[in-house]
Amino acid sequence: MKVLVIGSGAREHALCRSLSLDPAVTALHCAPGNAGIAEAAELHRVDALDGAAVSALAVKLGADLVVVGPEAPLVAGVADAVREAGVPVFGPSKEAARLEGSKAFAKDVMAAAGVPTARSYVCTTAEAVDAALGAFGAPYVVKDDGLAAGKGVVVTGDADAAKAHATACERVVIEEYLDGPEVSLFAVTDGETVVPLQPAQDFKRALDGDEGPNTGGMGAYSPLPWADPGLVDEVLRTVLQPTVDEMRRRGTPFSGLLYAGLAITGRGVRVIEFNARFGDPETQVVLARLQTPLAGVLMAAATGGLAHLEPLRWSDDAAVTVVVASQNYPGTPRTGDPITGLEEVAAQDAPHAYVLHAGTRRDGDAVLSAGGRVLSVTATGKDLTEARDRAYTAVSRIRLEGSQHRSDIAASAAAKA
Ligand code: AMP
Ligand code: GLY
Repeated sequence: MKVLVIGSGAREHALCRSLSLDPAVTALHCAPGNAGIAEAAELHRVDALDGAAVSALAVKLGADLVVVGPEAPLVAGVADAVREAGVPVFGPSKEAARLEGSKAFAKDVMAAAGVPTARSYVCTTAEAVDAALGAFGAPYVVKDDGLAAGKGVVVTGDADAAKAHATACERVVIEEYLDGPEVSLFAVTDGETVVPLQPAQDFKRALDGDEGPNTGGMGAYSPLPWADPGLVDEVLRTVLQPTVDEMRRRGTPFSGLLYAGLAITGRGVRVIEFNARFGDPETQVVLARLQTPLAGVLMAAATGGLAHLEPLRWSDDAAVTVVVASQNYPGTPRTGDPITGLEEVAAQDAPHAYVLHAGTRRDGDAVLSAGGRVLSVTATGKDLTEARDRAYTAVSRIRLEGSQHRSDIAASAAAKA
């Protein structure tokens, strides 16, 4: 099977790594990729947002499957363009990707499907914003309706800050604050059958102790020893399957990866958000534990064959990933600095710990930082404590001037396990 992966983050590196380990994959391509992905796949300089260019590349390569990693190409309709060219694609249509692309649309689907989520108002005027903030009280949750790379949400006790964020956005969703631990649960779907993966937890805030601004995600771990063993089945029944059924009923079936961001509140599970693609960095830990070869799973989702897929097999190992970010991330990051220590990790920590690249590029023999989240170190172990130790040992070998990482990824879960 010839596979083309679209994207350039650590999520795409994790996808390429798993695909490269799958004996069914005979050729692996990626566009545009990064310095790390270049070691697993052949890179192509194609704009991920350009559907015509991506589908032309897929046809030229004779790809059997295209896997679209990030949300922006999906929302731009890149999966539709590839599908129209006759190539199977893992990733939803532009219409179905609105589950992620518009928070107001997602709320509408959830209401129709009876999926539990925070009560909310969609507001476009200052008066409506004031009324909604008043109705829910503090802490205030204000979400930009459109895509914002994880940075469009403000959760604050300060009414002025909440109003300022609402004013900066054209259309906002203001919703009830959900208290309780967050879980990311992914499911692979062909539009009908839904196959959940293992749950993970992400660390959204920039600094230790969940302080600082929201980011795209600073680390993750799986499994969740503290979670109810019935959680996955419950979310499949109450969230994932009803949402996929509702999208099909509307004539816009959702196929690909449905990501449910959940809060486990005192009153039960509530959806915080949907995403239409694998989460980053959760994918790094989920795929580290998946034993079933990946290509067949993604192909079954792309071609309507999930009902016939064997149950997924999972390792009992724990996995932890720690993101190394540039100075000043999630603000405008400092880039262009050399990253060293990568060979030491490969020589001393593999196979239990390895580096997945995000914002990196090669310059001669050097690897340079080229984005906010630069790379993530992923490690496995018999439990979270061992996986954490291995991940942080590898992180300590990597040098990048001004870089930052959280030191408490999976710490409290490991202590409680
Ligand atoms: P989102 O982009 O919707 O995932 O929101 C980013 C982060 O904001 C989430 O991971 C939560 O930590 C927080 N958040 C979003 N919605 C709520 C809510 N209703 N209550 C509490 N926290 C929230
Ligand atoms: N880790 C959060 C996301 O991928 O949206």
